[in-house]
Amino acid sequence: MKKEILITIRGVNKSYVKHIVLREIDLDVYRHEFLAFVGKSGGGKSTLLRLIAGLEQPNAGKIKQGGHLINKINDQARMMFQEDRLLPWMSVQDNVTFASKKPDDQKEAKKLLSLVGLTEYANAFPTKLSGGQKQRLALARALFSHPDLLLLDEPLGALDALTRRNMQDLIMKICQQRKITTILVTHDINEAVRMANRIALIKDQLIKEIFDNPYRGIDTNEAKEKRALISDEILNKILN
Ligand SMILES: Nc1ncnc2c1ncn2[C@@H]1O[C@H](COP(=O)(O)OP(=O)(O)OP(=O)(O)O)[C@@H](O)[C@H]1O
Ligand SMILES: [Mg+2]
Repeated sequence: MKKEILITIRGVNKSYVKHIVLREIDLDVYRHEFLAFVGKSGGGKSTLLRLIAGLEQPNAGKIKQGGHLINKINDQARMMFQEDRLLPWMSVQDNVTFASKKPDDQKEAKKLLSLVGLTEYANAFPTKLSGGQKQRLALARALFSHPDLLLLDEPLGALDALTRRNMQDLIMKICQQRKITTILVTHDINEAVRMANRIALIKDQLIKEIFDNPYRGIDTNEAKEKRALISDEILNKILN
């Protein structure tokens, strides 16, 4: 089956004053794929994600989604960050709908809260939620109104190991079910290799290499071993 391209990035450069962060970035993102960006801290991972979100503009080059130039905020995309960015004065359900009272929106919010296991907290305030529950709510909010593209910037960075693993599984399941194209930025290479079908290494301001990963989401011993090998290879390339 031929893969359909959702996003094309061509010749993208990004600098801040004279500091070059990204150069000559060429990348195709396929529809319904799960792509990860890895690389050293300060290497430009979040910058590339923000360019795709239309929160920043490149100094040169073009980014298109579905053939349309992204030259303002990309309204087909939703972002999730390490901090939950919830609105503490709104209920859990209002955080999903942005306080819309439209019956269809309420229905959709209930569906999403059920999907992330927060039905019983719908009328509570976010302060009542644990860190993991807050990120589940942030996920539900990001999924509201059926985005084509989910951009995840270290969303699990502050979670404990077990909660983190459960969230990885939940995100993979939902993105697959809802056919959402997903780009994950993470400094955790094992997480990238567990979740993504391709991993792009950003180094020296470039996309140095893209690793195919047919072993994502499979929990057999063989798949785990293969993933460990891919992780090692990526780590070596980051360090050398
Ligand atoms: N708004 C900005 N103004 C000036 N410099 C910036 C700005 N945003 C990012 N930078 C610089 O661009 C470089 C890349 O930053 P970016 O946040 O993309 O890195 P990152 O790979 O996401 O790092 P980390 O893993 O630490 O989050 C850094 O040197 C950073 O200081
Ligand atoms: Mg970052």
